[in-house]
Amino acid sequence: MCDLEHHSATPSGEDEFHLDTPLIREFVARVRACIAAGATPREACAAIEPHFASLLAQDGWLTEQFSGPNPDSGMGGGIGQWLLFRAGDGTLSLFSLVVPPGEQTPIHDHLAWGLIGLYRGEQEEDVFDADESGIELDRTQRVLPGGLYSLFPPRDDVHRVRTVSAEPSISIHLLTNDTGCVVRHTWDLTTRKIKAFRSGYANVACADDPRVDALPAEACA
Ligand SMILES: [Fe+2]
Repeated sequence: MCDLEHHSATPSGEDEFHLDTPLIREFVARVRACIAAGATPREACAAIEPHFASLLAQDGWLTEQFSGPNPDSGMGGGIGQWLLFRAGDGTLSLFSLVVPPGEQTPIHDHLAWGLIGLYRGEQEEDVFDADESGIELDRTQRVLPGGLYSLFPPRDDVHRVRTVSAEPSISIHLLTNDTGCVVRHTWDLTTRKIKAFRSGYANVACADDPRVDALPAEACA
């Protein structure tokens, strides 16, 4: 039996603005106001969407530091996962995901609701129906710059993305957990097995979490 429960890394207690600009501080404040006012995650996402779309439409705010690959990627393929902001209590994170041309992420979940939007390049996204009993491809969709979609786990929470443009794709993730430091899951389509993994961030360490080592490398057959 697989353990698909949420495993949180220890929160630092302090908000962290790794990209500390007035634009990002204002965006995070607006997001928090939307979450506070929303009766449900769907309501909150609907309220956040125009602010997120506005961020995606603006040039120049994502500096070079957060726009490059990472040869030591926890996702493989040189994929850079750069933390821009995370809440001190671990309930919100904003990060960029840089996928080089021709590369794709492993199939993975997120374990939190939120929004993902494409900032640069083009991606194809494979969305899966997956749980402890199996995994099946549900659909494949093209994502263009400015395109965004929401996640409401367990619906649409398991996917992989690949870059189909000649330039790296950069997607911006706004999720209601500390996604890079949470122990999540990857699926292998050949073996049909699930593995526990933690992607980490290219620029920020996760608090040491002994549950990473405690989890079996292959959570279920
Ligand atoms: Fe993802």
